[in-house]
Amino acid sequence: MRIISISNHKGGVGKTATAHALGYALAWEGLRVLLVDVDPQASLTQACGVTDAGGSSLAEAIGGAAPGRLRLADALRPMGDNAPVLAPADIALAACELGLSQRMGRERVLSKILEPLAPRFDICLIDCPPSLGLLTVNALAAAGGVICPTQPQAADLRGLRLFLETLDLIRAELNPALDLIGILATFYDGRLNHHRAALEAMQRAGLPVLPVTIGRSVRVAEAAGAGMAISTYAPENPRAGEYKELAELVREWLRKRAAD
Ligand SMILES: Nc1ncnc2c1ncn2[C@@H]1O[C@H](COP(=O)(O)OP(=O)(O)OP(=O)(O)O)[C@@H](O)[C@H]1O
Ligand SMILES: [Mg+2]
Repeated sequence: MRIISISNHKGGVGKTATAHALGYALAWEGLRVLLVDVDPQASLTQACGVTDAGGSSLAEAIGGAAPGRLRLADALRPMGDNAPVLAPADIALAACELGLSQRMGRERVLSKILEPLAPRFDICLIDCPPSLGLLTVNALAAAGGVICPTQPQAADLRGLRLFLETLDLIRAELNPALDLIGILATFYDGRLNHHRAALEAMQRAGLPVLPVTIGRSVRVAEAAGAGMAISTYAPENPRAGEYKELAELVREWLRKRAAD
């Protein structure tokens, strides 16, 4: 099982929408996909239509200052045929994060609880919270790759540098093999000068900008509200095609990794 974290400490850049749509796109193509919601806001859990995870969620599997009492396998929620399996989050994760700071091996707790699930899945996508706290550090320590969604505008690019520095720190201290799969421009509108300029600035700076961008469409938010994947909610919407292209890039990354 390869693990990819969808991460950026900036809020509202499309991390959850990406994890959700990409998870469904990969599962539709026959991969066994595990979606892990590491955000106490539980937006991915809600987008998957799960509202009753309290008491049996990732929070109880992670634990806090003491190890969790639940096996993650017992918290999993299958989303149906050719669909991902969800490890749901709950607001209790916020308390976990506080407790974790006192825990021995606190950065590798998620990695350890995911390990027994490895034979059951081809790929695991982790939806990170908008912070650089211990839950995000756990997600980055567990992952082989990172996709960093970002809005293509100057203010977000400054924040992006801080995130990239964090990745360097994680590589140096915890996870040398962590690969930045790419930066994903979200809410992208090619008609806007400042969007095009931001994308070009990232490319000029030698940043690994992915060759697919995700445009803005109210259908993405509607699909999440309905607990559905964009690919089934609005299959003709251009966003469904863009996420499909992203899934193809991820499959290429998986093939490359398998050959390494
Ligand atoms: N391509 C899109 N077009 C239009 N709306 C979108 C798109 N992607 C996401 N959204 C909406 O924008 C809001 C923020 O997106 P999302 O929750 O995916 O961001 P996030 O980075 O996970 O946020 P947070 O940092 O709070 O976790 C949500 O209401 C979501 O439904
Ligand atoms: Mg989110």
